[in-house]
Amino acid sequence: MMDESKQEFYIQQFANRFLALEGTGVLILDSEFRIVEISEMVCAVFGCNRADLVDKPVEEWFEGLSLKPKPFDRSLLHGATFRNRSLSWNRNKISHELMLDGEVLEFNGVTTGAFVLFRDVSHMMTLEEQIRRSDRLKTIGQIAAGTAHEIRNPLTAIKGFMQLLNKALTDRSMSKEQKFVGIVLSELERVNELVSEFLLLSKPKEIKRVPLRIGQVLQEILPMIRNEALMYNVTVLYYPKPELLPILADKELLKQVFLNLGKNAIEAMVGGGTLIIRECSHPDEPNKIAVEICDTGTGIEADVLEKVFDPFFTTKSQGTGLGLSVCQRIVHDLGGSIEVSSDVEGTQFTVCLSYASGELEQELKASGGERSPDDV
Ligand SMILES: Nc1ncnc2c1ncn2[C@@H]1O[C@H](COP(=O)(O)OP(=O)(O)OP(=O)(O)O)[C@@H](O)[C@H]1O
Ligand SMILES: [Mg+2]
Repeated sequence: MMDESKQEFYIQQFANRFLALEGTGVLILDSEFRIVEISEMVCAVFGCNRADLVDKPVEEWFEGLSLKPKPFDRSLLHGATFRNRSLSWNRNKISHELMLDGEVLEFNGVTTGAFVLFRDVSHMMTLEEQIRRSDRLKTIGQIAAGTAHEIRNPLTAIKGFMQLLNKALTDRSMSKEQKFVGIVLSELERVNELVSEFLLLSKPKEIKRVPLRIGQVLQEILPMIRNEALMYNVTVLYYPKPELLPILADKELLKQVFLNLGKNAIEAMVGGGTLIIRECSHPDEPNKIAVEICDTGTGIEADVLEKVFDPFFTTKSQGTGLGLSVCQRIVHDLGGSIEVSSDVEGTQFTVCLSYASGELEQELKASGGERSPDDV
């Protein structure tokens, strides 16, 4: 039989230690719902002082915090206990997701008070959110892989026959009908592009990483961007930096990245503006280059900014919301990074990519991969 004082001794130590735990908070209340004890963790989360709270009615504390609705009330004293009641709390831009358990304290069958345990589960929530997100991506990937192929096959057949028709119409000089076929073909091309983007999301295709100059990639897409810009009354300024060393990347995929970014920038400048495409060496990392794509468009609100890379997130009536998620996927697969910053004056996307290693650079020199700078 253990003697009582020993037991008390240990329970006291346990209580002290428990009250000091960082992950679990404790609030002890008396039969009048006044605070008897509040642990350091709860004070830290809610930004309050233990000494100011002890002996105060708990409702007063809630009011001071403007906690609405109240996480619990006096019914707890009458047996309305609870488990895993969730409570969100933001302080100094840090949001806490808390889980609360409430229990009654009794002595000789009489309710003497209650206690509430607080667990901070913010970290778990973030993890859950990440899992949900990657699950979503996986599902999209599965759907994409399953259907994209099936859509592509008939498309190829339609395209083939349309091209034959086009030729037949040319032979008969039926120019009006030819125009219709032309529209069908260009619309088909759009569907095809969409399907390709889908496939890209589902599985990264074999990436061919070869040493190439970023300027070469940009110069190849510049005519397309200039063409689009013309329609939107946008001026395009291109600042090449020919002395940049070659990077290791897949040219076709990179073209897709900058086309998407250019297209977005132009689409953000309703009524015109300036699109600046600038090559530079990375300001902080000597083994990287950066390409900046800046627009003088509408800018992106902070709550939208967090979502721009999400698949299917779009604010455009005709948008698919795949553009940026595909860009991000490609850049990450190439070992680079893509960042965005925005304010009312416009938006800047920065794509960073690594230089090719020394030996690959030699290879490029041997194959004469030089280029001349484009004029601004
Ligand atoms: N340069 C930019 N300026 C302002 N908003 C932008 C810019 N780039 C992207 N966005 C915002 O991010 C969203 C997502 O862009 P994303 O390219 O992924 O899809 P989208 O352009 O809407 O559609 P899609 O590219 O498939 O045609 C856009 O709808 C827009 O709200
Ligand atoms: Mg887009």
